[in-house]
Amino acid sequence: MTSRPWWRTAVIYQVYVRSFADSDGDGVGDLEGVRSRLKYLADLGADAIWFTPWYPSPMADGGYDVADYRCIEPVFGTLEQAERLIAEAHELGLRTIVDVVPNHVSDRHPWFVEALATPPGSPERSRFWFRPGKGPDGEEMPTHWVSSFSGDTWTRTVNPDGTPGEWYLHLFTPQQPDLNWSNAQVRAEHEEILRFWFDRGVAGVRIDSAAMPVKDPALPEVPLHPGPGGHPFIDRDELHDIYRGWRAVADSYPDERILVGELWLEDTERFARYLRNDEMHTAFNFDFMSRPWEAKELRASIEATLAAHAPVGAPATWVLGNHDVTRVVTRYGRADSSFAFATKRFGTPSDRGLGTRRARAAALLVAALPGCLYLYQGDELGLPEVEDIPLEKLQDPMHFRSEGVDPGRDGCRVPLPWSVANASAGFSPDDARQAPWLPQPADWAELSVAVQQGDPKSTLSLYCAALQLRKTEPALTTDQFEWFPSTEGVLAFRRGGSFACVVNLGTESVPLLPGEVLLASGPLTDGSLPPDTAAWLRL
Ligand code: GLC
Repeated sequence: MTSRPWWRTAVIYQVYVRSFADSDGDGVGDLEGVRSRLKYLADLGADAIWFTPWYPSPMADGGYDVADYRCIEPVFGTLEQAERLIAEAHELGLRTIVDVVPNHVSDRHPWFVEALATPPGSPERSRFWFRPGKGPDGEEMPTHWVSSFSGDTWTRTVNPDGTPGEWYLHLFTPQQPDLNWSNAQVRAEHEEILRFWFDRGVAGVRIDSAAMPVKDPALPEVPLHPGPGGHPFIDRDELHDIYRGWRAVADSYPDERILVGELWLEDTERFARYLRNDEMHTAFNFDFMSRPWEAKELRASIEATLAAHAPVGAPATWVLGNHDVTRVVTRYGRADSSFAFATKRFGTPSDRGLGTRRARAAALLVAALPGCLYLYQGDELGLPEVEDIPLEKLQDPMHFRSEGVDPGRDGCRVPLPWSVANASAGFSPDDARQAPWLPQPADWAELSVAVQQGDPKSTLSLYCAALQLRKTEPALTTDQFEWFPSTEGVLAFRRGGSFACVVNLGTESVPLLPGEVLLASGPLTDGSLPPDTAAWLRL
């Protein structure tokens, strides 16, 4: 039997660079901060680190507005430091995945600056979506497409003589102009960017907003019920050819380099098309992440996920959180524990104790499912969403573009607590010049890595134990998966002959399967599994 490729069962830890660890005391995380914590990530049991964009950026959208793909944001460090980080991580068995953003660039990217400096119809403008406006004076925008960040998707330019000019498309903020993927230079440039990072030892790329780069050039309005492939800017069939090109670049390297797609698609069959064996290797499973903490819902998602992946032979992924969504502890402590961007509101009550118990049980559930596991920084500490950041400190454009209705995504991006050492809970050095870029709650140090490392019952200790067992249990590195018959509210499954996972999402304790308990997310009572608790067993 040949050994299985690493990425089919990997644990991939997401580092949101700005908030991971600050080495130089400016209140913002940086690459040297990450380098100083590599051992922590290796000891935790991560196989790879995915870095959210670390490129020079005006930070109109937390770095997803990239001004130069071949450099490092000066606040984060230098290219040389990135190279050293990739190499040192590799020595500790940690692969590196970088974030590539094909849909748009920053409005400070040289291409967009050149586009604005040249007249309508120029080759420089054809890398983007410049269009005259509608109506007699071109005052009306070319379409009424709504941004994922709410609001308009077109901004009007000003001609050199001060008169109103063409409009340009931006599916996100006006500082993120969309690229035109039917332009050959756009395509060639991104394949070069992949090579640039693969040549520096990067093991994979996470593809940002991967279903959005291609647009219908006729620019129709969005139909009320777009059929499969019928949406003017989401999941267009032409995307597959682009990713086949990317896969060819990845496959031109002797060791495996992987493509991971950020695909928010409801249609599981259309989703799986991106995972055919000459396209992406894996994609994030947002269906599972968005479901409420209910046995029926999660079971349905697990079944649909495994069924959708099977025909294309791709591994599933399991995700509880990332830098865009409400922290799992807070979500699962709410009356409605599902996730949707559209319904995020200030002041939604959440029971932290309940949410924490459920998030711990969920950790054992996802770590026992077949496929890769994504772990967002701080979820291993059971950090809650920070919901009382003073309004004047908020930075996320999602908040501002919703006219303040949506709290935005800052609450899951608060700098990590490492210790009780100083005022920033060890995020910054003792002699820091600046406070953390987002304020940390008063009790943050109690949740810190140092405190949790000393407590065998902590969420960090639970994650460490689970991720170690995941490596040593042979059944967990296979595709074998089989449900046990179970009562309502319970998820129970076997992996291979003798490993089982049981999760109680109901309201009453349930008897455990007979066997040796390897790990439990909370206290067990007389051989039974209390509500909101999970256990791993050797049968
Ligand atoms: C992705 C990123 C998100 C970003 C958006 C625009 O969804 O995860 O953080 O705002 O793309 O690039």
